[in-house]
Amino acid sequence: MKINDLFNVENKVAVVTGGSRGIGEMITAGFLANGVKVYISARKAPALIEKANELSEKYEAECIAIPCDLSTSEGIDEFYNSVEKNESGIDFLINNAGAAWGEPLESFSEKGWDKVMDLNVKSIFFLTQKFKNLLSQKATESDPSRIINIGSIDGLNVPSMETYSYGASKAAVHHLTRVLAAKLVNENILVNAIAPGPYPSNMLGSAVNHDYTEIAKRNPRKRVGTPEDMAGLAIFLCSRAGAYTVGETITSDGGIVKTANHNLS
Ligand SMILES: NC(=O)c1ccc[n+]([C@@H]2O[C@H](COP(=O)([O-])OP(=O)(O)OC[C@H]3O[C@@H](n4cnc5c(N)ncnc54)[C@H](OP(=O)(O)O)[C@@H]3O)[C@@H](O)[C@H]2O)c1
Repeated sequence: MKINDLFNVENKVAVVTGGSRGIGEMITAGFLANGVKVYISARKAPALIEKANELSEKYEAECIAIPCDLSTSEGIDEFYNSVEKNESGIDFLINNAGAAWGEPLESFSEKGWDKVMDLNVKSIFFLTQKFKNLLSQKATESDPSRIINIGSIDGLNVPSMETYSYGASKAAVHHLTRVLAAKLVNENILVNAIAPGPYPSNMLGSAVNHDYTEIAKRNPRKRVGTPEDMAGLAIFLCSRAGAYTVGETITSDGGIVKTANHNLS
């Protein structure tokens, strides 16, 4: 019942997609600070390698960069093969890499639809299909392996911006989480999702010139999310404390979804 036992993730091996910045970096940092070896991926190799080196040094832990484009099956194969070369098994798969696209309904492009769906939904499914084998090697009834899919509150609420494929993709992530959880719980692999609200990142920042003041003001907690909020939740889900939580989509949004007043009458 001690904190160190309930939330211990030491000596585990994790794979975090989109670990070079934003939410993926927050989760990676939380893992590294607590003794997890982490493989991170993203497309831009120099930034990814620099981040892996920076985090390895800061947390005195092993962070390994594997650059690849996960929106294609070739990229997913490449990524999997690189991890498999080094590891006989992994404990956690964090499907975090994601993209957004905004365009008016009338001109919304097929490119904006496919780009978002390919990365946010298709890649999660095929990464899970591939990595299941490595996750199974470590999975036991008393200490199951874990998958966390990063969804969004935009998959729960109706987004205010014209991001049609994004909201639909994130709702799909939440449902896919339940479907995969139902299948994989029998193999001691627990699948859950986190639906973040506003967290400082390139994705959110590019929409507001990295000024989060207004977003913070509108939030029930009067702030945006922090690395501690995100890392803490991911560590909970991956630790002994989260071992009876299956198929959930847990919001981390300062209360936006649960406290919004939808009564407009
Ligand atoms: N920040 C928020 O407020 C918020 C809210 C709700 C949900 N989310 C979700 O959180 C996740 C992380 O987003 P973020 O806000 O941290 O965004 P971000 O700062 O843009 O980071 C996205 C990460 O994914 C990588 N990535 C993008 N396309 C990729 C591809 N095709 N293959 C491999 N890696 C790729 C990026 O690196 P490269 O560009 O080098 O590939 C980067 O590491 C996403 O799923 C997003 O939808 C974020």
